Amino acid sequence: MGFRKVGVVGLGTMGAGIAEVLARGGVETVGVEINDAALERGRGNIEASTGRAVKRGRLSEEAQAEILGRVVFSTDFAALSDCDLVIEAVPERIDLKEKVFAELDKVCGPDAVLATNTSSLSVTEIAAATTRPDSIVGVHFFNPAPVMKLVEVIGTERSRPEFVSAVTELVRDLGKTPVTIGDRAGFVANRLLFGYLGPAARLLESGEAGKEDIDASMTAIGLPMGPLTLMDLIGLDTCLEVLEAIHRDSGEARHEPAALLRSLVAEGALGRKTGRGFYTYEKVGSGSVV
Ligand code: 3HC
Repeated sequence: MGFRKVGVVGLGTMGAGIAEVLARGGVETVGVEINDAALERGRGNIEASTGRAVKRGRLSEEAQAEILGRVVFSTDFAALSDCDLVIEAVPERIDLKEKVFAELDKVCGPDAVLATNTSSLSVTEIAAATTRPDSIVGVHFFNPAPVMKLVEVIGTERSRPEFVSAVTELVRDLGKTPVTIGDRAGFVANRLLFGYLGPAARLLESGEAGKEDIDASMTAIGLPMGPLTLMDLIGLDTCLEVLEAIHRDSGEARHEPAALLRSLVAEGALGRKTGRGFYTYEKVGSGSVV
């Protein structure tokens, strides 16, 4: 089962990255956003990301034009009606995801695979918003999606095994490394990663170490980014949601979000995407690090 046309709902940091990965992989892609302004931001995210690759000499202008030409942009869910796979990448709120899936249930063909890029919510719960929970799988990309190799593919107890296999195959064809796992808050990678990121925020909050020293400790060890810089890249709102979900599910104190993280999110300091998080940034953008 190859996928001919793939839809992406939500073109924020993750959705735009996923749409870029698909279009780079030669897949006809449909990107859907809630309104014209969000759609233009999403288009801008993909243009900027591929534009950076052109500037770095990694992509020719012709290849960039071909990639962009493979993406159709729309504010109408009906544009997804002939997609054989749709990947939802809207913010991590269960009410929002349920709304999107109820809509996809109405517009998509009966054989379409419906996937969620959720970081930490229950795929089973999201699937319950549809009349076809056996068509729902999780496909969890990492930020920045065009660079990160790992993609977690999640099958629920109801997911059709051939749908899980087909999505795993697509991920492999896109040059990524799929890992197939069950439906558990934080899956594998976030459960491990946030066991490290959460305490980094608490360490800063305790005043025992400054942010630059916390980050330098880990980059000097050899990690590509310090934990606070990485949280700013992921988005502090997403970090808070992931920690809350893992904390709820595991009950482990180490996953309890730091009060500092909560207050930054409440102030609207969400990391790179808003220009301020643990650090401040001159350039506001969707996870752009270059
Ligand atoms: N979009 C597209 N490409 C990007 C990019 C972006 N946002 N950011 C960087 N790149 C590309 C660059 O163009 C460059 O490509 P090239 O080698 O072909 O020229 C390459 O990545 C390296 O970029 P730089 O040289 O500018 O910067 P670094 O070497 O510092 O790498 C990084 C940047 C790849 C982001 C690296 O710092 C890194 O790996 N950081 C850790 C990221 C990570 O752990 N992500 C997982 C987060 S958890 C998550 O997403 C789960 C979610 O559920 C919360």
